Amino acid sequence: MSLAPRLALTTALALFAAASSAEDRSGEEVFNCTCIVCHGSGYLHAPRLGDGKRWGKLVKEGLDDLVPAALKGQRAMPPKGGNPRLSDLEVARAVVYMANAGGGAFAEPGADDARRWRDLAERKGRR
Ligand code: HEC
Repeated sequence: MSLAPRLALTTALALFAAASSAEDRSGEEVFNCTCIVCHGSGYLHAPRLGDGKRWGKLVKEGLDDLVPAALKGQRAMPPKGGNPRLSDLEVARAVVYMANAGGGAFAEPGADDARRWRDLAERKGRR
């Protein structure tokens, strides 16, 4: 291979790696790539997206309870829904996406929130 195509290929691969590892997936994107497996159908008795009755109760518990549970796992749910490539912030966004679809009105979380929820998750341990 001559230099020019090789450079183009390297650049394309670098761009691809950057795009797929960036922490910029929205809550909806994270839901659709991971959480939907259980939370789309209610598989393993997961609270379904848009189920106002189940999510209504969870919304009252608040994000300080919900996000650490999603990060650390809870009963049938593995840590980060079984997708370790998700960042803590991406998981938090997905929690907010589902909570708001179930009647919540939470603001978009930021990096500081994600750090705090990670601390809470580590302190709490897996339940
Ligand atoms: C393998 C199936 C599965 C996947 C994938 C999954 N969950 Fe869950 N999730 C569950 C189950 C089952 C429960 C109910 C847990 C229980 O009984 O306490 C649950 C509960 C939750 C709760 C409520 C926790 C609480 O405090 O009661 C949140 C929040 C949550 N999931 C977020 C997520 C997010 C965000 C994702 C995607 C990143 C995800 N889940 C992916 C199975 C799953």
